[in-house]
Amino acid sequence: MHIPVLQKEVLEFLGPKPNENFIDCTIDGGGHALAILEKIKPNGKILGIDADPEVIKNLKLKIKNFEKRIVLVTDNFANLKEIVKYTKFGQANGILFDLGMSSWHLEESGRGFTFLKDEPLDMRYGANELTAEKIVNEYPREEIERILKKYGEERFAKGLARKIVQERPIKTTFQLLKIIKSSRIYSPNRVFQALRIAVNNELNNLKKVLPQAVEILESGGKIAIISFHSLEDRIVKKFFKEEFQKGTIKILTKKPITPSQEEIKNNPRSSSAKLRAAMKNV
Ligand SMILES: C[S@@+](CC[C@H](N)C(=O)[O-])C[C@H]1O[C@@H](n2cnc3c(N)ncnc32)[C@H](O)[C@@H]1O
Repeated sequence: MHIPVLQKEVLEFLGPKPNENFIDCTIDGGGHALAILEKIKPNGKILGIDADPEVIKNLKLKIKNFEKRIVLVTDNFANLKEIVKYTKFGQANGILFDLGMSSWHLEESGRGFTFLKDEPLDMRYGANELTAEKIVNEYPREEIERILKKYGEERFAKGLARKIVQERPIKTTFQLLKIIKSSRIYSPNRVFQALRIAVNNELNNLKKVLPQAVEILESGGKIAIISFHSLEDRIVKKFFKEEFQKGTIKILTKKPITPSQEEIKNNPRSSSAKLRAAMKNV
């Protein structure tokens, strides 16, 4: 089960009040959304978005009691303005992003997000055509090296990219793991992370959605973003700075908020989390 990360802090920054409306752009199991829903009762609504149709299907079964106050949509948050239009949701008092994959993806999706299980190399959240299998089998060596270096910050990217190309075809996580182990790389984590970010175009989606989110916020509305990768955090930091300079937002987190030692102990997945929040100027 996915344990929501920095939940107390998210609620503090978003400050949901009775009858306000919120958008959770990465709703997954609804860990954050259900806590917000409790604070915005009796009439506040949530628009919950996830790119993954299976995630939305699972959540629909879980939220039967709240159905009237949650609108669930399977879509990419990069289409946020479009989504708000076709659901007729209107302006929001707060918008949340809790980026990346969830524990469900690792533990249950069967799509090759983890090297701890032998699964096909898929790694998609949504309906995009690109898979991890396509990257490792069809991309030129230079492009694989670029992905490993940029998204995985992998020092030995060149050697590994060469090995990947030599060992083709590569169909499963365990095949890839064997290749990683035979190179000088200690942790396969970053290789898997790099492929996942590339497959799902994660950094570009984040860049696309941030200006849309600020537009959709009510004056005085808040935006909170939890990231798990330094490149994501950099995008958020830069965007906030630019919007602040334009006079659109006030930054609520001078430095990113990180989980306490206790939270990391209880939920090791939270260890790389960084939360930044801002308020749209009135
Ligand atoms: C870390 S989980 C969110 C967990 C959730 N906040 C909770 O506490 O239960 C991130 C979710 O975002 C979804 N996701 C990632 N990128 C997305 C995108 N571009 N558009 C929509 N959903 C996305 C993933 O499918 C995943 O379910």
